[in-house]
Amino acid sequence: MKIGYVQTSPIFGEKEQNFNQVEGLLVNVKADLIVLPELFATGYTFVSTEEAKDLAESLNGKTAQFLQKMAKITGAVFVGGLIEEENNKIFNSAMLVSEKGVIGTYRKIHLYYKEKLWFSPGNQPLKVYKINDFKVGIMICFDWIFPETARTLALLGADIIAHPSNLVLPYCQKAMTTRCLENRVFAITSNRIGQEKRGLDNFSFTGASQITSFNGDVLSSAPIDKIHADFVEIEVKKARDKKINEFNDIIADRHPQYYLK
Ligand code: ACM
Repeated sequence: MKIGYVQTSPIFGEKEQNFNQVEGLLVNVKADLIVLPELFATGYTFVSTEEAKDLAESLNGKTAQFLQKMAKITGAVFVGGLIEEENNKIFNSAMLVSEKGVIGTYRKIHLYYKEKLWFSPGNQPLKVYKINDFKVGIMICFDWIFPETARTLALLGADIIAHPSNLVLPYCQKAMTTRCLENRVFAITSNRIGQEKRGLDNFSFTGASQITSFNGDVLSSAPIDKIHADFVEIEVKKARDKKINEFNDIIADRHPQYYLK
């Protein structure tokens, strides 16, 4: 199967321009799974809850419609970020969208820095979705630093972790090789580039979107400063063999009775 990412440079608050940027990078692309950055349609650096709420959407809003359109054009299932509004709360979410519409969402559990001021933390369990012949789980950006996130998705049976991101720290891309190796899953980290100087914050996003293999190999690595899309063929069933030799199975060999919660 063919999986990939789109690495963009979102313009704050300009959804249509941000949609056009994604569409421009996907001309003539056909794939099975495509991951877009966290909050790819809105930008990241909010200065107030009201500002983030003004850009929030329900699951049949513009962003869902755009992803459904792109799913029809490319044949892929998409994972991309949005500000999700429900009952006057907003979440830093990502949705999984096919040509038929929204399949599900993930609400970011581990909020980074001032995200804690604007967003409610995810209030739903991690989940894995079966699409055709593969299983995909979603985590968002800073979730990577909590190994429990990727481990839970692996225990739920994920073959691939879709990982929309707006990374500002320099560690994640290296860490994802360990996340994938320790869980024997594939991951698609779709990051953004560019700078956002808003309010008292000035973020530079680190690019280098990455597709990481079940054995820790880096299958694709994007430039740190250019918009970019890339796709690789993977043999997804390799993620289902958790043995690293005839004696060790990284899931079956766990001893959870000795681990702390
Ligand atoms: C982040 O979680 N967007 C740093």
